[in-house]
Order: sequence, then C-alpha cells, then structure tokens
Amino acid sequence: MRPSAIALLVEEMARGRRAVVELGCGVSTIVLARAARELGARLVSIEHDRDWAAEIRALLRRERLGAADVIHVPIAPLDCGLAGALSAPGFRAPRRWYELAALREACPGRVELLVVDGPPAADSPGVLIRAPAVPALRDRLAGPCTVALDDVSRRAESRIAELWRGALGWELELPPDTDLAVLRASNSPMDPPASGRAARTGRPGAAGHRPTGRRR
Ligand SMILES: C[S@@+](CC[C@H](N)C(=O)[O-])C[C@H]1O[C@@H](n2cnc3c(N)ncnc32)[C@H](O)[C@@H]1O
Repeated sequence: MRPSAIALLVEEMARGRRAVVELGCGVSTIVLARAARELGARLVSIEHDRDWAAEIRALLRRERLGAADVIHVPIAPLDCGLAGALSAPGFRAPRRWYELAALREACPGRVELLVVDGPPAADSPGVLIRAPAVPALRDRLAGPCTVALDDVSRRAESRIAELWRGALGWELELPPDTDLAVLRASNSPMDPPASGRAARTGRPGAAGHRPTGRRR
C-alpha cells in the first residue's frame, strides 16, 4: 500500500473511524497500529498467511502496539451464496476467500473503517478476488463508516469498487496518487481532523490532508 494511502487511512481514523478492520497485513498494519495507539482506536488485521501473520504480530509486540491484533484466517472455499452475488461481465467470481466464519469471529461487531488489501489478487486479474469483503461484513459496517479498497488502478479492483458502490449506495472517491477507492455513506458524519497528541506524533497525514479526488 502506498504511503499516501496509509496517510489517508490514518486521517480517517483521526476523524473518528476508531473500529478498524484491515484485510491483508504488512507495513500498513504497523503504521495503523501506531495511529490506533495514539487515537484510542482498535485495529484488527486479518492475514491468510500464518508465517506472515506471525512476523507482523512479532513487530507489533516489539513496539508494544497492543491496540492492534493480527489474526490468522486461512483461505477456504467461498460460500456459494456469497460468490453468486459477485459476478460482473468480463470477470469471474472468486471461488475461495478468507474462511467466512473465522473472519466474522475475528472482526468486531461494529466496523467503522474497513481496509481491503487482501487476499493477494495481482496474479488473477480476471477474478474479483477481493469482492466478498463488503457482502461478508455488510451487517457490521457502522452507520458512520468508510470502506477503502487498495490497488484500484487494476481492472478487477476498479470493478469491485463499482460493485460495492452499487450495493451500498455510498459515494465513491478516488483520491489522487493513493491507488485507493474510498466509499463513504453520504450521510456519514466525520469529526474535524484531530489535533493535539496524535497530530504531534508526526504520524502521516496528520496535518490537514484532505482527499480531493474526483467522485464518480
Ligand atoms: C498487498 S499485501 C498487504 C500489505 C499490507 N496491507 C501493507 O500495505 O503493508 C497482500 C498480502 O501479501 C502478502 N505479503 C505482503 N508482503 C509480504 C512479504 N514481504 N512477505 C510475505 N508475504 C507478504 C501477505 O499475505 C498480505 O496479506
């Protein structure tokens, strides 16, 4: 994930999105965990690769970043009902995704920021690999909520963003240079940017970064 994307996510947290779920952990998890610690937020990061999950978990532990958990959830056959709703002309629906029951068990009951950067999708450009994220967690998405999908410059991810916009009826924004699609409920209130402790820590995006990308 690009640094500018991580900065945007930190700003979403500073503006009130405090219950955060990330699909696909990595460096982003460390930065978001630092922000969570500063802001009194909580981050749950879901990772399908057991070894990678352990590596990132160890980094969190080393930095005493207790505001974040990395939870290993394996990839498993996808529930047919969910897969059926995920087709689009020119693309195939995914047959496998995070094991649904384990993922839902790992996630909080209320999600205010959903960051979708997994499972890895670069090697299957004709499959909507990440599409199940919103239908799988739709009932957990809080009233004020933001969904961010990474790698939206890829055709499949761009199509997924459109599918989610249609399903949710939310506004879709493509903030420049982030490679993110950002969906927000149009009536979704945002706090003003946080000042004070979090803003003084030098975390990325603290100082009034305002996404200005086109809406479509
Ligand atoms: C796009 S990456 C997620 C990266 C993370 N959200 C970030 O921005 O730092 C998707 C997946 O690639 C795998 N991955 C990423 N970096 C890796 C690495 N250095 N070694 C092994 N696996 C990696 C993980 O399984 C991860 O869930």
